[in-house]
Amino acid sequence: MIHNPIKDHLEFFDFELFYERLLEDESRSQAWRLHHLRQEDFSKHIMHRKKLTKSFVEKGANETEIPVKYSFTEDDFFETSILDILHKRRSIPLYEMSNNWTYQDLEKLLSLSAGISHQKQESHKENKSEDTALRVYPSGGLMYSVNLCLYSRNVSGLPDGMYYYDANQSNLKKLGGARTDAELEEMFPMTDFNLESKTKEIENISVMMFLVVDFERSFQKYGRLAYRLGLLEAGHIAQNIQLISTAINRNSHPYCGFYADRVEEELGIRKDKYKHCFYTLFLG
Ligand SMILES: Cc1cc2nc3c(=O)[nH]c(=O)nc-3n(C[C@H](O)[C@H](O)[C@H](O)COP(=O)(O)O)c2cc1C
Repeated sequence: MIHNPIKDHLEFFDFELFYERLLEDESRSQAWRLHHLRQEDFSKHIMHRKKLTKSFVEKGANETEIPVKYSFTEDDFFETSILDILHKRRSIPLYEMSNNWTYQDLEKLLSLSAGISHQKQESHKENKSEDTALRVYPSGGLMYSVNLCLYSRNVSGLPDGMYYYDANQSNLKKLGGARTDAELEEMFPMTDFNLESKTKEIENISVMMFLVVDFERSFQKYGRLAYRLGLLEAGHIAQNIQLISTAINRNSHPYCGFYADRVEEELGIRKDKYKHCFYTLFLG
């Protein structure tokens, strides 16, 4: 895809080009009216929401499913207040992480930062009403266009490998098997620039989170606004992940420094034009 790396680099840092792109994508009143109208009757997509969210898995998973059993109980109301958690939240350097995650920690983290919290009755033309599962984070137009994938590395109780968190079905679906640390490092530039310390960066990480935006449905409804909605939704999820990690006394660190092409190859979505990894987080 890259034909001329030098030209590519210059365009990447050309503010005039970037400015044009910002103008093209902003939600101006005219553009909103003309372009952000729904392109078709969207109610049928609501009918197929559950089916469509499975498409991530259909494209790559080998059908191994591991239940994420955690459910909300009174114990979830942590003694620490939200103010303490906000104050305590930090992006912990990777060398300070302690690689002590258990599967129970992960179940708690996934359920409380990206799981289902409520059922809502939704009405639409073809069917009088249907229950829709609402999650612990907000989503533009209820699209839930962000898919949460993770690589488990030394999490006690969960085999190493790549997984997709299916919030609707409360389980992890396996996407791929164990990788060596050298293979995992191929996905991130951090170790490329410091060859001396190779493997040190990664050795304290228990979980690598990958937030993948799927534009297949959201683009049909929102056009180019879908891009911003995807970014914002990923930000909400990432914030939850950091706050819940803090609340359960575990470490986390958000990372935009990753090679999207290599991550997407690992996730088996490189050839899927709708799905793009926008954000990663490390837990450890
Ligand atoms: C969108 C985003 C991307 C980030 N990407 C990286 C990254 O690639 N590498 C890194 O070391 N830290 C990254 N960080 C973490 C920031 O460096 C960190 O949030 C900042 O230093 C403030 O520290 P705090 O999170 O502990 O408050 C990222 C943070 C955000 C919000």
